Amino acid sequence: MGKLLIKGATVITVESHDSVINGGEIAIEGRNIVSVGPAGSAPEGFVPDRTVDASGMLALPGFVNTHTHAAMTLLRSYADDLPLMKWLEEKIWPLEARLEEEDVYWGTLLCCLEMIRSGTTTFADMYFFMDQTARAVEKSGMRADLSRGMIGVGPEAQQALDYVPGFVDRWHGRAGGRITVRLGPHAPYTCPPDYLKKVIDLAGKLDVGIHIHLAETRTEVEDMARLYGMTPIQLVDSVGLFELPVLAAHCVHLNEKDIEIMARKRVGVAHNPESNMKLASGVAPVTKMLEAGVTVGLGTDGAASNNNLDMLEEMRSAALLQKVSTMDPLALPSFQALSMATAGGAGALGMGDRLGLLKEGFRADIILIETRKPHLFPRNDWMAHLVYAAQSADVHTVIIDGNIVMEGRRVLTIDEDEVYDQVQRRAERLVAGK
Ligand code: NI
Repeated sequence: MGKLLIKGATVITVESHDSVINGGEIAIEGRNIVSVGPAGSAPEGFVPDRTVDASGMLALPGFVNTHTHAAMTLLRSYADDLPLMKWLEEKIWPLEARLEEEDVYWGTLLCCLEMIRSGTTTFADMYFFMDQTARAVEKSGMRADLSRGMIGVGPEAQQALDYVPGFVDRWHGRAGGRITVRLGPHAPYTCPPDYLKKVIDLAGKLDVGIHIHLAETRTEVEDMARLYGMTPIQLVDSVGLFELPVLAAHCVHLNEKDIEIMARKRVGVAHNPESNMKLASGVAPVTKMLEAGVTVGLGTDGAASNNNLDMLEEMRSAALLQKVSTMDPLALPSFQALSMATAGGAGALGMGDRLGLLKEGFRADIILIETRKPHLFPRNDWMAHLVYAAQSADVHTVIIDGNIVMEGRRVLTIDEDEVYDQVQRRAERLVAGK
């Protein structure tokens, strides 16, 4: 197993606001961190194959983007400034109907490229042609939790159920364990209770979790109340969804009882502040969820509704949005935002025992951030710098599962020019209606 030593970094372990080690070092063996501490703390007899000099850099856990639709990078800037349902029904769904398998592969590679370059090491995706997504993830070197989006109405409904067992078999635990799989029933308004029950049965049999959009818009809450007399959260709980591990995206419109259920049933939340702002969906009650003990991670959502996949920017937006919406400058302080983007996301994915912190025994998913930048001086508080001032271009090196995937801003796993050419050509074909 390869041994890697990162030396001289200011190590932000994200265990607490104060867990900052100046001139620290991180020893890595294979895919795991074997020690984190001050200079000279690597285990006795640890002889690295390679030493990375990280003087002048911050070392922190890679970001966990808990909600994406990776190949939607192909639709970036195709339809903007529209409400959610009009955006979906008139723009996004018709264009997605023309997507071919190879499109999804190249769109996902573009997504991975953008995420690696902005310090994301793990993402949770929901889309279709997921074998192509998995292929792209495998190539990129990233870690991903992949779910096949499922719509419970129309001919797609059964097709999606039939697809999933093979997909789980082909990819769950594959790419050296970097890829995990879930089922992705899209939302309560596209997956009626009878269909959701089928999805729940199948996920139980396959022993995998669920990724779903919940309580995203006020319209969804009103429709569920009219049809079933329940909130979206209470509806899916009533059919047994929360007996499985669930990653729930958005959770914008919640009442007290919803939050209590989510805490008790250990639902992981993917908070997507920029997508919620752009589609004018509302402001998720993040502070209330955290106070109630709900595990909340951060996500960008697809590139068509954000429009980038930059987790540094998302952290900043999350913090600012909680402050302004609660009129409380103490809401979501910098450390809490950073924790949400790393450990919180890992927890929401059920991977909090191995991802999201720099800690012995955890996976070596580490990013190095350059600090000799005008916007990062003077050095009073690194947490504040990371959340309120840092930029994705400050990310210098990215290590995933013990492998260096980007070094000195050069991505080693993906041919950037080939991705740009492919994506541009494919997007032009899609927009032209072919
Ligand atoms: Ni989404």
